[in-house]
Amino acid sequence: MNNVIEKIGVFTSGGDAPGMNAAIRAVVRTAIYYHKQVEGILMGYEGMIDAQFIPMHARSVSNIIHRGGTILKTARSENFKTKAGRQLAYDNLRKQGIDALVAIGGDGTFTGAEIFYGEFGIPMVGIPGTIDNDLYGTDFTLGYDTAINTAIEAIDKIRDTAASHSRLFFVEVMGRDSGCIALASGIGGGAEYVLMPERSTSINDLIQVLEEGAENKKSSSIVIVAEGEHGGGAYKIAEKVKARFDHYDTKVVVLGHIQRGGSPTAADRLLGSRLGVAAVESLLQGESRKMVGLVNNKVAFTPFADATTKDFILDKELIRISELLAI
Ligand code: F6P
Repeated sequence: MNNVIEKIGVFTSGGDAPGMNAAIRAVVRTAIYYHKQVEGILMGYEGMIDAQFIPMHARSVSNIIHRGGTILKTARSENFKTKAGRQLAYDNLRKQGIDALVAIGGDGTFTGAEIFYGEFGIPMVGIPGTIDNDLYGTDFTLGYDTAINTAIEAIDKIRDTAASHSRLFFVEVMGRDSGCIALASGIGGGAEYVLMPERSTSINDLIQVLEEGAENKKSSSIVIVAEGEHGGGAYKIAEKVKARFDHYDTKVVVLGHIQRGGSPTAADRLLGSRLGVAAVESLLQGESRKMVGLVNNKVAFTPFADATTKDFILDKELIRISELLAI
């Protein structure tokens, strides 16, 4: 174990995600297990710049494993994008005696981490936390499982009313650059069609599938629209379809930020716990500038540079399954 590291700072950054608290708890308790001190940094990089530090103990993370959001709060920091902001952040870390960091967040967080490491060389390991599941180097990100369960629960409820009224529903789910939530909730929620940023949106194709459904005596239909698909969002798509397809009355539901909240599922609690332990142990073993993830259910490390620049590839088999089962 690395005796040079005496105090580890932990922070959450970017969009919050259920399971972040489980990861914070694991980081704090693992550091204490190895007789290291831990400091929580509030509001992500912004709190580093404003010197918002709180000492963490084993009891500081009691009763949080089941809570959504992040007890350390989070922010998307514009100041950290400037050299002056990063210098201030580094000076504050030194004053606080923090000599290593665990960053919990998404690609923006790790892009910042890579730049920060390049400038100041402070050891850093990242834990992927974003409901979007769009990071290269891990099969799953923290919060994704909870988010798709939330989306599917909502779709189930929509299905009840859609079937009762013989309606066509467009359900918009989150995913600015990724169709992961859309595809998984489309399959799990039994949707007729999934629109996502990874492929171009074809209204003709969508209408053809809906027509076939109507011919096959479907009483109602559900279309999942990822927030970042290229057709302009659920309301615009619904308008375009309505103009040419009138078998059903049409409704639009945007699930929005409810997908980001809520108590984390068992899978997200386990993931946060596993990655939190691995992050601290790897830092103490001299690992740095890497994201820790799970690949084939085993802990795996990916350089920040790869995690942020290589594309997460959507599973083509899942796309095939979603289409095959929609008849
Ligand atoms: O956390 C990822 C994400 O939920 C994206 O899917 C979404 O586009 C974005 O965050 C929304 O962020 P904000 O809450 O800052 O509007």
